[in-house]
Formats: sequence, structure tokens, C-alpha cells
Amino acid sequence: MKTTFDIKKGLEDVVVAESKVCFLDGLKGILLYRGYRIEDIAKASYEEVSYLLIHGKLPKKKELEKYKRELRKRRYISPRIIKLMYDYCPGTTGIEALRTTVSALACHDPDVLKVSLDDHKKNGVGLVAKFPTIVAAYERIRKGKRPIKPHPKLDHAANFLYMLRGKKLDELSAKTLDTDFVLHAEHGFNASTFAVRVTISTLSDMHSAITSGVGTLKGPLHGGAAREAWFGIHDMKDPDYVERYIEAKLAKHQKIMGFGHRVYKTYDPRARILKKMAFELSKKKGNSRWYNIAVNAENIMIKEKNIYPNVDFYSSIVYHNLNIPLDLDTPIFAIARISGWVAHAIEQYADNKLIRPREFYTGPKSMRFIPLEKRK
Ligand code: COA
Repeated sequence: MKTTFDIKKGLEDVVVAESKVCFLDGLKGILLYRGYRIEDIAKASYEEVSYLLIHGKLPKKKELEKYKRELRKRRYISPRIIKLMYDYCPGTTGIEALRTTVSALACHDPDVLKVSLDDHKKNGVGLVAKFPTIVAAYERIRKGKRPIKPHPKLDHAANFLYMLRGKKLDELSAKTLDTDFVLHAEHGFNASTFAVRVTISTLSDMHSAITSGVGTLKGPLHGGAAREAWFGIHDMKDPDYVERYIEAKLAKHQKIMGFGHRVYKTYDPRARILKKMAFELSKKKGNSRWYNIAVNAENIMIKEKNIYPNVDFYSSIVYHNLNIPLDLDTPIFAIARISGWVAHAIEQYADNKLIRPREFYTGPKSMRFIPLEKRK
């Protein structure tokens, strides 16, 4: 029997499966979804990208129309679920509300517990459709407002903004959020995706797997970075103050939020795309102050530390300009990432092996049992 183990804490650099969903090269700044470069795929709509990830190929026009119709039809959540949400939404965070609602949805529909490949696809797409409805209903309920029913004609991102506000937003706002969804839709074997795959590997159902994904995304080492990045940008206050702010932080060995990435050691290609969109949106909204501060910070960080902004840095400016509460950053991440989760769940199921790693036991081996009444 093997007695020595090569322990890889955090599974860093451990390859656990083959995958055809996503390729990333952090040294060269390359990200591909199913072989397509992120710079090209960012021109597609979220629905197209969701179809690509889940079905494995780009949809033709008719296939896309059908997929959009399906998503629109399945956006609604039942009054029973909304009634439950009134109970737990005030006083909790958006990501907790989302996690609880995905679980609750499974309790109300026996079909969601089926686990064939087709069932996984069907149930996964149903959740892709419902995520924006759940997050928007949470936001309305916690502010003491009534949830707004999905709009039957609007696309995914535009409908989300509509359900938050109760009115249609301009095209640039909808397009910017749509692209933000595309850029967050998939990113390889990150912690939440791995959690989804572990759950599916036990032959559990899609709702359980997505609940695992949401619960894992909730942790501050994974979701929540856009909010932190915004607090940093906000603290910089003024373009002229940025240099002093950063120097003071670096002198104290503190991190500048929104910079650096475990995988990307050059410019994160998603950040480059969002930077452009943040610029256009800020210009349109007539307030470029935060964008200018962000660009100053970027220039200083690259010059001083050779550390680049990550996707969340410019996302935070986009959310601010869209008037989206910054603490919705993790639920919005989930709205986008669920297509990647479903794609990975299906891939895991199609070539499954129970994921069950080993541990190296370092505890005692000869403890003497003392009955409760004699224990001191
Ligand atoms: N600000 C200042 N310095 C940073 C930095 C940042 N945002 N990110 C990394 N560094 C520095 C570290 O201080 C360290 O310097 P040292 O070698 O002199 O000690 C070096 O770069 C390596 O950092 P490390 O934290 O070990 O890199 P990592 O690859 O493990 O971490 C992150 C990646 C994302 C955890 C890290 O960059 C970070 O904490 N960033 C800020 C939080 C953030 O934006 N998270 C969202 C990620 S999508």
C-alpha cells in the first residue's frame, strides 16, 4: 500500500479531468469558450453564449430564436415561491436568497429531481432562465417593493434591468450588462464549477449541483470582488489623489482591490473589454470621474507593481453606472456563471466518475476510549 502522498493543498495545478468547455492561458492572456476567443464571443448575446456552452455549438438563427423563446417561457417563478421569499429575503444577502430559492424550487417540482442527460439539460436551462427573476425579486422584496413579473419580449439582460426597476432601460445599458454576463459566463475549473461537478458526480440532481455552486461562489475568495474593487475606487476620491492613495497602501503592504489574478499574470482579456464598455457607459451617463480614477489607478499599478486590473475592477464601474446596488455583485456573477455551471455538470455526467480524493491523515491512531461518566 502506498504510504507517501504528494499533497497539493487547494488542488493547485492538479488536473482532475479533461474538458472541452473552456481554455485559458494566464501568461498570454488568452480565454476561449469552446474554442472561440473571448474577444469574438463578447460580440454575441448572453443567450447565444449560454447556448454555446450548454449545447456545445453556436446556435443558428432559428435555434437561437427557439432558445430565447424557451428562456422567456421559463423565467416565471410561482407565487408559492415568491411567498416564501417574502419570509427570508429581508435581512439576508442576495446570494443567500438565491441559494435558498434554488433549493426551494426543487421542493415544488418532482421533475427537477430526474437525472438523465436530457433532464440535466432541461432543468439547467430552466434555472438559467429563472436566476435573474429570483435576484430581481430579492432586490424588490428587501426594499419593501413588489416583485415585477418578467417582460415577455425583452432579452435576458434587458429583462433583468426591467425587473429591477419596473421600466425599460436604454439600449447601451442593456448591452453593457449583457456583455458583462458573457464575460462572467465561464472560467474553467474554478471553485464553484468544481463544486457543481463534485455534486453531479454523485448522480445528484441539477438543482442540488447549482445550489452547491451558488454556496461556493458566496465565499469572499471567489465572489464579491467587484464590491471590494468599488470601495477602493470610491476611497481614491479624485484622479489627482490616486497616486498618493496607492503609494500609502503599498507602503503598508496592503492590496489594491480589483488588481491581480491567480491565473492571469498579464492583462485579463475580460477586463480589457469591460474597460471599453465602462468608458462608453460613463460617457453616456455624463459622469467619467470614477472611470478616470480607475484608469489612473491601472496606470500606476502597472508601472509600480506590474499588476493588472482583473474583470471585477471595471465591472464595479459598470454596476455603479447602471445604478445596481454593489452588494448584488455576487448574485449577478451567479446569473452569468450558471451557463458555465450547467455546461460542466452535463460534461461531468456524460463521462462520470465519482469525485472522491484522498486525505493524508495526521491525527492520533491509538486513543484510549473513556466512557462519558469517567471523562474528566
Ligand atoms: N495589490 C497589491 N499587490 C498585489 C495585489 C494587489 N491587488 N495582488 C497581488 N499583489 C502582490 C502581492 O502583494 C505579492 O507581492 P509580494 O510577492 O511582494 O509579496 C504578489 O503580488 C503576489 O501576490 P499573491 O497574492 O501571492 O498572488 P495570487 O496569485 O496568490 O493572488 C489574488 C491573486 C487575486 C488573490 C490577489 O491578486 C489579490 O488579493 N487581489 C486583490 C483582490 C481581488 O481583486 N480579487 C479578485 C480576483 S478576480
